[in-house]
Order: sequence, then structure tokens, then C-alpha cells
Amino acid sequence: MSDIAKLQIGDKSYELPLIKGTENEVAIDIKSLRGSTNGIITLDPGFKNTGSCESAITFLDGEKGILRYRGYPIEQLAENASFLEVSYALIFGDLPTKEQLDKFHADIKEMSVVDDDVKKILDAFPKSAHPMGILSSLTSALTAFNPSSVNTDSEEQVYKAVVKIMGKFPVLVAYTMRKKLGLPLNYGSTSLGYVDNMLKMMFEKPNEDYSINPVIKNALDKLLILHADHEQNCSTSTVRIAGSSHVGLFASLSTGISALWGPLHGGANQAVLEMLEAIKEDGGDTKKYMAKAKDKSDPFRLMGFGHRVYKNFDPRAKIIKKAADEVLTQLGVEDPILEIAKGLEKEALSDPYFVERKLYPNVDFYSGIIYRAMGIPVEMFTVMFALGRLPGWIAQWKEMRSRKEPIGRPRQIYIGENERPFVTIDKR
Ligand code: ACO
Repeated sequence: MSDIAKLQIGDKSYELPLIKGTENEVAIDIKSLRGSTNGIITLDPGFKNTGSCESAITFLDGEKGILRYRGYPIEQLAENASFLEVSYALIFGDLPTKEQLDKFHADIKEMSVVDDDVKKILDAFPKSAHPMGILSSLTSALTAFNPSSVNTDSEEQVYKAVVKIMGKFPVLVAYTMRKKLGLPLNYGSTSLGYVDNMLKMMFEKPNEDYSINPVIKNALDKLLILHADHEQNCSTSTVRIAGSSHVGLFASLSTGISALWGPLHGGANQAVLEMLEAIKEDGGDTKKYMAKAKDKSDPFRLMGFGHRVYKNFDPRAKIIKKAADEVLTQLGVEDPILEIAKGLEKEALSDPYFVERKLYPNVDFYSGIIYRAMGIPVEMFTVMFALGRLPGWIAQWKEMRSRKEPIGRPRQIYIGENERPFVTIDKR
């Protein structure tokens, strides 16, 4: 293939370079387009065909159902690695040695205390507040308690910011859940592993010893790994764009949390469970809901189905479906909702509407069933997603800053009124 694309506009032709990634993905480099064509731009709402950056973090092939972090296949990571190892690999490029991992964990623990005044902000929220709103606000509020800006040219300062947020974020997550449940705040113990301590911080009751159930711990480790990064999705792009204005890491992360909250993105895991509950309450008639999903006059969508990039299967959904079966069996939980989910999946996979549109279960379709079996409230599901996505957001922010990417500022095609004179209010 030539490494030049030719563009013909009217009688003029332009040459645009082609850029090839390490997995042979090809892009037309349009950086010079507007300048050389005297103002012509490309238009691509939703960025369905537009790459926003070159990135060395995550590779995914939606047609083949491939997902790799830093080159490591997601299946191997989910089977063998811990969330902290995966976090390190995403942020720093390679899986850590034992010494690197121990140091990373020790530094995170060192930074995990959150200023006690943050509790005052937490207290001001009503109990009815959605945990994602609380988490986004508290993450943003951390900037007030850690005001010095990070010099992104200093590896040491960036490392410090990374371990700070890796330490404090799980505390904020636990705060939001305990607020919801009316439980006193709990720091857990630094003698525990990263994920073990998350569980203790979230679940320990003030009057009971908390012992970690290995089934729950392993399931959480796996879920966090599967959610840890997904290249330029909505929340990650939000983090990169916000960070491109050189606002700090914590403020950039808080914009990602807000973007993740929406039901078309991370909020789908809550929406899936609510949908499955509604189907159960309605007598378990999956056919009725399949018909609603296909009816274009009905806004209902089958939540947990479809993906912008995966058009064959979502490799994360495969792993999670298996894990849901295992976790429920090991915990001795019988959840009728799992059967409804499997029924819906079976129907959708043989229904021409879903087959033609290449709609498959995504990562969120089965994750809520596991979270529920773990005792996590439904409103916390998207917070759990954010906990998993944290290292991905950090890695993407760090990469964007180290590559000195320009401020993200898309163009538009204006379709409003042409110039018209101001009319005083009595004449309108
Ligand atoms: N149920 C019913 N129909 C659907 C669904 C669905 N879940 N998803 C897509 N479709 C249909 C659309 O109506 C459209 O039909 P048309 O061609 O007849 O107009 C076609 O499939 C293509 O859908 P788009 O919305 O154009 O696809 P897009 O790539 O923009 O959206 C998205 C992807 C947002 C994930 C979509 O599939 C969706 O809304 N799914 C449900 C929400 C969900 O599960 N989100 C989580 C995604 S994973 C994540 O963010 C972690």
C-alpha cells in the first residue's frame, strides 16, 4: 500500500500522509488539511472514524474481539495478574518486577490517608445523592487539599501524583458506599493487599471483624482488571481532553468520572441490573423486552448490548459471563436474574435485528450480577467501574502530557442563522 492518500476537491488534488500503527492500523493524517485547503475540515460526530491520538497503552480489534494492555492479552491478565500489577503495567509500560511492585504498593499505602476535612464535604451530601456524583466531587475536591501543580516533565513528581491518587481513590470509593449505607468511615489496614483492603474499607462493620472471602476478592481483582483500560472511550477521551488544557490530574479524573456515569457508558452496569429486575418483576417475559428494544418508536434499548468498537464479541463479556457463573456457584447464590440475562443473550444472538447490527453483550451485561452477589448496592456499580478504570485514565493522562499533545479543541460546521441585526425587546 502506498503511504499517501489522495484527496480530490473540485479540480484540486491534495496528498495526505498515511500513518501506520504497530498492529497495522492505518490512519489518514489530516493535520495539514485545513491549512492547505483554505479552511476545509472533516466532520465526524461521535468520532466514529476519527483517531484523536497515537497511543501505546491499549490495543483492541473490535472485529476479532482482541483486547491487550501494553501488549498483554486481557485473557492472560485476568487469569494470572493482580489489579495492582495491571495498573503498574498500564501506567508505566511493562509488568513490574517483584521489587517494583512492592515499592509501588508501599508508596501507594504511604499516600493513602485522605485529609479528614474531606469528610465535611461528604457530610454535606444528602444520603439520596448518587455515589458517582459524590465520587466525582470528592475527586475534584482533592485538588484543594493537594494544590501544588505537577510538573509533568518531572518523572518524580508524576510518580508522586500517581501513587497519591492510587492511594486515596479507593478511600473515596469506600466513603461513597459507606455514606450510602450509613456506615462510619473506615480506613481498613495497610497490612492488607490493595484489593483486600478495598473490600475491608467498603464492607467492615463497626461491630464485627471482617474476614476476606477469597472468592469475592478474586472476583473483584478480575473485574477491576477487565475494566482497567479501553483505549479512547468516552470517559478516557474526556480525561485526555480536560487534561490537555493542563488542568491537573485529579481535576481531569473527575471529568472522566462524570462521563463514565452516563447509561450509554459505565452507567450501563446499573441500568442492566435495573432492566433485569424490571423484567423479573414483569413476569420474566424476555420476548416482550426484545420487542421493545427493536421497536424504533420505543426509546428502550437492551442495556448491556452493543458496543461502538466490538462488532463480533466483547472479550471482557466472555470472561465475565464465566466468572458470574463461578462466583454465584462458589458463593452458593441463586439469582434468577442470571437466568433472565442468559435467556436474553440467547434470544438476541439469534435475532436478525441484533445479528444484522452486530449487537453483542458488552462488559456491563454480566458484571452487575457479580457485584450484586458480592453485596455491592446497585447504585455503586458504576463507582466500581471507575475504581477499575482509574489506572487506565491515569496512564492516558500521563501519556497525553508526556507526548506534549496540543489542547483538544474540535472544529465545527456552523448551521445557525446568518448575520442579522439586533432587535430591541419591544419589537420582537
Ligand atoms: N438495543 C437495541 N438497539 C440497539 C442497541 C441496544 N442496546 N444498541 C444499538 N442498537 C441499534 C441502534 O438503534 C442502531 O439501529 P439503527 O441502525 O436501526 O438505527 C444500531 O443498533 C447502531 O447503534 P448506534 O447507537 O448507532 O451505535 P453506537 O456505536 O453509536 O452506540 C452503544 C454504541 C452506545 C454502546 C449502544 O450500543 C447502546 O446504547 N447500548 C446500550 C448501552 C450500553 O450497554 N452501554 C455500555 C457500552 S460498554 C461501555 O461503555 C463500558
